[in-house]
Amino acid sequence: MRDGTPTLIRLEDYVAPIYWIRTVELSFDLDPAKTLVTSKMQIQRNAAVPHGPLRLHGEELTLLRVLINGESVSFRQEGHELIIEGAPDADFTLEIRNTCAPEKNTALSGLYTSGGGFFTQCEAEGFRRITYFLDRPDVMAVYTVTLRADQAKYPVLLSNGNLLETGELDNGRHFAKWHDPFPKPSYLFALVAADLVSREQRIRTRAGKDHLLQVYVRRGDLEKTEHAMNSLIASVVWDEARFGLPLDLERFMVVGVSDFNMGAMENKGLNIFNTSALLASAATATDADFHRIESIVAHEYFHNWTGNRVTCRDWFQLSLKEGLTVFRDQEFSQDMAAAPSARAVCRIQDVRALRSGQFPEDAGAMAHPVRPDSYVEINNFYTATVYNKGAEVVRMYQTLVGRAGFEAGMKLYFERHDGQAVTCDDFAAAMADANPGSALATRLEAFKRWYVQAGTPRVQARGSYDAETQTYTLTLRQTLPDTPGQTHKQAQVIPVAMGLLGADGQALPLQLQGEAAAQGSERVLVLEQLEQSFVFVNVASAPVPSLLRGFSAPVLLDDGLSDTELLMLLQHDADAFNRWEAGQRLALARIIGAVRAGAALQLDAAFIQAMRAVLRHAELDPAFKALALTLPDEAYIAEQLAAAGHSVDPQAIHAAVEAAHIQLADALHEDWAWAFDAHQVRGGYQPTPQQAGQRALSNQALSMLVLHATRSGTTVWPGRAYQRFKDASNMTDRLGALSALVNAHAELAVPALERFHAQFRHEPLVVDKWFALQGRAAEVDGKTFARVKQLTQHPDFTLKNPNRARSLIFSLCMFNPAAFHRSDAAGYVFWAEQVLQLDAINPQVAGRLARVMDRWNVLAQPYRDAAREAIARVAAKPELSNDVREIIERALA
Ligand code: PHE
Ligand code: ZN
Repeated sequence: MRDGTPTLIRLEDYVAPIYWIRTVELSFDLDPAKTLVTSKMQIQRNAAVPHGPLRLHGEELTLLRVLINGESVSFRQEGHELIIEGAPDADFTLEIRNTCAPEKNTALSGLYTSGGGFFTQCEAEGFRRITYFLDRPDVMAVYTVTLRADQAKYPVLLSNGNLLETGELDNGRHFAKWHDPFPKPSYLFALVAADLVSREQRIRTRAGKDHLLQVYVRRGDLEKTEHAMNSLIASVVWDEARFGLPLDLERFMVVGVSDFNMGAMENKGLNIFNTSALLASAATATDADFHRIESIVAHEYFHNWTGNRVTCRDWFQLSLKEGLTVFRDQEFSQDMAAAPSARAVCRIQDVRALRSGQFPEDAGAMAHPVRPDSYVEINNFYTATVYNKGAEVVRMYQTLVGRAGFEAGMKLYFERHDGQAVTCDDFAAAMADANPGSALATRLEAFKRWYVQAGTPRVQARGSYDAETQTYTLTLRQTLPDTPGQTHKQAQVIPVAMGLLGADGQALPLQLQGEAAAQGSERVLVLEQLEQSFVFVNVASAPVPSLLRGFSAPVLLDDGLSDTELLMLLQHDADAFNRWEAGQRLALARIIGAVRAGAALQLDAAFIQAMRAVLRHAELDPAFKALALTLPDEAYIAEQLAAAGHSVDPQAIHAAVEAAHIQLADALHEDWAWAFDAHQVRGGYQPTPQQAGQRALSNQALSMLVLHATRSGTTVWPGRAYQRFKDASNMTDRLGALSALVNAHAELAVPALERFHAQFRHEPLVVDKWFALQGRAAEVDGKTFARVKQLTQHPDFTLKNPNRARSLIFSLCMFNPAAFHRSDAAGYVFWAEQVLQLDAINPQVAGRLARVMDRWNVLAQPYRDAAREAIARVAAKPELSNDVREIIERALA
């Protein structure tokens, strides 16, 4: 915060709290301008650590009184701390009264107002903006909460746990009293007071217990909650079936709010969701939205065990709950997808997100280990590394101990730690102890380097075949790149799932030297030295290796395969992920080749034919085809170049990708026309993987057809796209057709955009899509950039709502490199302005936007100097929040 001194917090400085708060009775007199908070805490000294003053956290509060055992006591306030020197040795009661100002809270951390209601967000350190407290996750208390508010304006009063009592008060006010029997850290506290309605469902779980599930939203949004409710029920069933983890509350509530910094929050029994992660109807949400909602509802629900029942000792352990819970929601999504091909599609999407979001982070100014060792502002560490790389680390445990072994590890983890605040080491120990002698347990200390060393490991693989001895030797080498503050890293434990393919693409049996017989046709090699060789025997002919199947480790792989070998894998690999990967590698090689040569990209007939074969394939899943025909992400291409020591020219990358795109549109024109017709969904809208796959492929085909048509000056396909846009019965197809027109800069895009806005102007989440589509539109002659600047003046635009800010500003700066990186530096100037404006409103969201410049250092000129100048301009402002300052200072370090 602005008036706090920025200090570096370090993991090695962790000390247990001097005091515990065992119970707390909170009462709120809710008023938007001035809310009165009374807190009565039972406090106990922690005998295990040396005595010291009681230091409570508090920010942006007005303190009214402090009593110990009912008597006033002397205290002082220093920065964001309230310090009491004379606290008694024996257990005591501390009573505090203070006020806060919810309607002024634009940071959306603590207690704030949104759409005329009250909501809270306490993770990570928002509780201290509500009242003075030991706001740290290892202090767990039992909460009893009384809410008082105007009955007409705020008919619904919610907090964690069970409802004890409700009643009327004078002056049109009413109250509700809640009690949560589970001790919890303050970051899991929540309250809601608003005019809401709820969808309700009673369920009986396997264990025979009855539960009430509720989804609360604003009036008018109720019909958009069916999917969330179904997802919640599926999540309850899944966690019990897969991990034996039941719902532990009689009542489980989910609430939607439209002003929210993140996706959602797992407050005990009272999850609060960004409406974008909760509300869906066929008319307003896309297949991708439906999928995202299912996974976020599951994610928050799964936190009830991995996060709430067992929580983090300190915020350095954030991945303990986040990596594990992302892994669990990924597994859930795969199980929900059911069909093997649909599972592979889930995996491909997760890996794409990792590579375009986490890999650049791991290589840039903000690179940090899965368990960071220091931070200034913890909000800056809710990152792709902690979440997504953290999930990959958890996945590697499962790869090393097997599915049953992983489940046994989870069981032991809960047996040991239920009700505790623990560390990543505790999780690792449970996994290893439940699987003695396993590939994990025998190298646990080395495996844990994944938590400590930042940077994406690079693995080089080279094979050599000896026809005489019929042996195939595979040599794997790893290198660990330097990252800020870390050099000379130690070898990591890298599980490499693999198989070998024979000349006609058949899977070969795998027998390592020293083994009596072949052991199947797929196995996991464990690379743990800097260099290791694996010798396969009884290999009849020179094989093609299929390595890192299913993306078995978060590394950059260089397997040195030729085009012929990659084409073979694309056709025959038994592992669907690697089949997709082979196609991506072929595309990547061509794009990178053109960028490095500074030449125009010209796709060769072999590649085009391979893509045609995928598109026309009789058995492949449409969703898989759509992904296989999607070119690698520009951010990922940039990382490939940077990893090879080249500077990054975003315009050159974009030009090559665009050329590849256009050539695929032209060369496969007939095939796209076929694909469009052949994948129309008959019957009513269902967000199933099957239907979604058909829509993905037909919409991709349509955008290729419109692109081809606008370039060749024909009007049939743009006309058809416009018709489809108008007549579509669901948002996926409507938005698909609209984006086909917008990205091709077709003339019809203009009336289509107007019509879309007019039709949906009362649906905020759809208006977000309208802004986002324009912010991400393919750049041609600076038109997209100019349009975005113009849209910042649109009456519907505001930086105050995070979803709206993201929809336009982040779309441009984060997801549209060609529009953002301009040789006149206007994109960077725009970025600096927006960061500063946002920072005055919401530092957390501003910090995210600041991250856009993480990789300025690898940019080619003139971008590099211009980017640095823009960053320096932001750094020169004295008024920056800690959030933005930390990001900017790391960028310039
Ligand atoms: N803990 C939330 C989740 O991952 C994310 C979150 C963090 C939300 C901080 C709000 C604030 O589920
Ligand atoms: Zn989470």
